[in-house]
Amino acid sequence: MINIQRQFCPIDKTCWQWFALNEGKVVGYVHAKRDESGLFVSNLFVEEAHRRQGIGKQLMESVEELAREEGFFGVRLQVDPAITDLDFYHSQGYWCLGTIHTYGKKLGG
Ligand SMILES: CC(C)(COP(=O)(O)OP(=O)(O)OC[C@H]1O[C@@H](n2cnc3c(N)ncnc32)[C@H](O)[C@@H]1OP(=O)(O)O)[C@@H](O)C(=O)NCCC(=O)NCCS
Repeated sequence: MINIQRQFCPIDKTCWQWFALNEGKVVGYVHAKRDESGLFVSNLFVEEAHRRQGIGKQLMESVEELAREEGFFGVRLQVDPAITDLDFYHSQGYWCLGTIHTYGKKLGG
């Protein structure tokens, strides 16, 4: 039986985190921060041994529940399609809204 617990971040007061607990042990986690467009989700993770049991879905539904409670416009997140399983997000009703290019510079030394 999975129990989802929500915490308001005590330091950054624009953030929440959710823990998925299985018999008191953390098996999943997600973090969300309020911004100008609603809630921005990061660090969604479910322990490998507990995947495909609906925990990721429950965590994202908990984020959406808070967004509705708070009257936020919507929920957004960024993914790297090379490493993220997009099927999960598609199954939850999330679709690409745009593309962001990441720039960097290697420092010698
Ligand atoms: C992505 C992740 C959070 C999904 O968590 P999960 O608990 O396994 O997901 P759920 O069991 O709630 O899956 C819900 C639905 O998503 C889809 N889905 C999830 N994982 C999938 C996979 N590997 N392949 C295809 N579809 C998948 C399925 O439709 C699934 O429903 P079903 O099991 O009834 O078919 C988990 O795989 C994970 O932690 N991955 C590594 C970290 C990561 O990629 N995080 C996101 C970074 S932005």
